[in-house]
Amino acid sequence: MEVLNIGVLASGRGSNFQAIIDAADSGIIKGVTIRVLLTDTPNAYAIERARIHGIESVVALPKEFGSRDEYFSYLAEEMRKRGIGLIVLAGFMRIVGKPLINAFPNRIMNIHPALLPSFPGLHGQKQAADYGVRISGCTVHFVDEGMDTGPVIIQAAVPVTPDDNEASLSERILHCEHRIFPEAIRLFAEGRISVSGRKVLISGVPAPEGFLIWPPPGC
Ligand code: GRF
Repeated sequence: MEVLNIGVLASGRGSNFQAIIDAADSGIIKGVTIRVLLTDTPNAYAIERARIHGIESVVALPKEFGSRDEYFSYLAEEMRKRGIGLIVLAGFMRIVGKPLINAFPNRIMNIHPALLPSFPGLHGQKQAADYGVRISGCTVHFVDEGMDTGPVIIQAAVPVTPDDNEASLSERILHCEHRIFPEAIRLFAEGRISVSGRKVLISGVPAPEGFLIWPPPGC
């Protein structure tokens, strides 16, 4: 089996990055190598996680580039140079620019802490708690040029109580993020995922278990 090289983009603490590292180390995801972390934040804790696990990290500050396109062209080139086959956004706090999307069509995944298309953008957990929904969750989706608008791969549903606030709901959702992100990567690495328009098709996984997890095991 050919090894799938993964490139990670992260801006912060990197707990999803860690979940992916752990899933690869423990063999839950087989046939992948996490080749590089690219970050826009020099003090991101994700860098420390990369160091501990012997993963190369590169800091690239957008302000050091002439334009947004130049920045995302640089990221695309860094990924391409390392033979990356899948890019995962693990808390990357930017809308991805065209040069990177065009270089990796349907090969960039993001995790969002709400059930898209509800509550896109920042603070999805706070938006859900404030709105008073009974169910929120998290979504792994392919990245397109919009903000959290690309085709949905897997979602996990998480109950919301009237007592929830941003912190409590974020914690409950985060457990599920750490389950579904590695799961989506596993399915991709096994070659089971294809995209038809807005629809993501997952082969060899019975519906609905493969793409709606309620409640996710371990959450
Ligand atoms: C997560 O809540 C993720 O859904 C969102 O950013 C946060 C990143 O957290 N996109 P971490 O850095 O993975 O801990």
